[in-house]
Amino acid sequence: MGEYHIRTFEDRDYEAVRTIFSHGIQEHAPAGCWHVLRFPQTHLLLLAIFLVTYMISASLLFSCGVVAAFLVMGWMRMKGLWAAYVQAALVSDMLDIRKTYLEPKDCCFWVATSGEEVVGMVAAVQPEDPSQRGKALELKRMSVAKRHRGHGLSKALTRTVICFAQERGYQEVVLGTSMVQYAAQRVYEGMGFRKVKVEYPSLLPQGGIPLAKLLQFYIYYYRYKIARSH
Ligand SMILES: CC(C)(COP(=O)(O)OP(=O)(O)OC[C@H]1O[C@@H](n2cnc3c(N)ncnc32)[C@H](O)[C@@H]1OP(=O)(O)O)[C@@H](O)C(=O)NCCC(=O)NCCS
Repeated sequence: MGEYHIRTFEDRDYEAVRTIFSHGIQEHAPAGCWHVLRFPQTHLLLLAIFLVTYMISASLLFSCGVVAAFLVMGWMRMKGLWAAYVQAALVSDMLDIRKTYLEPKDCCFWVATSGEEVVGMVAAVQPEDPSQRGKALELKRMSVAKRHRGHGLSKALTRTVICFAQERGYQEVVLGTSMVQYAAQRVYEGMGFRKVKVEYPSLLPQGGIPLAKLLQFYIYYYRYKIARSH
């Protein structure tokens, strides 16, 4: 962690954090695809497509081509879902970062830098769930540029959020992450966050929620209880 520095977001960081955020989210599309490809239902569907096409066309090559086309369409759809999530964030909370994350009470946005370069980010906000407001702060928008991973940066950023919440008298830090964000889960669990809820994503483009249900794609919700002497 020696060469890194964590400080509050400044306007000059704007493009860098939007880029790190976009890349950090969209890189999960392949993991999302693997998740779907592991389903026995997916195997059965691909087999059914193959058999029906073969019965109609009597061509092995054509049937394989149809299955391949189906896989490509699935991949495009999966990529599109992650891209749509990023786009929705870029035109909402990530559009005016200062207004969303620095002006409201008990919110903040930090960047991790290596020299002059922004290489990581995290935010603290009032939780989306109204029942948690006043008691917990929500950790959001954690992302570390690929080249700088594995140096404990996300742990340092998480600690920054926990200390911020503790200094302001909050009892918990909460967050949500998708089931295919394996590195994030490992970081949070390693730091003492406990999984408290598993739900389908609530913020998806049209048609996304039924699809998430069909594919059993969940969001894991975590909670960290701040010790009084933290
Ligand atoms: C999650 C993320 C922020 C971690 O950043 P980082 O600075 O590399 O994290 P750290 O160096 O502090 O810790 C990395 C941990 O993840 C583990 N890890 C890395 N890749 C992993 C993977 N594919 N599967 C499981 N664990 C993995 C490492 O082994 C390490 O755990 P350990 O210290 O117990 O060995 C980074 O991977 C990232 O930006 N991902 C894309 C965006 C994202 O998913 N953000 C989370 C939003 S909730």
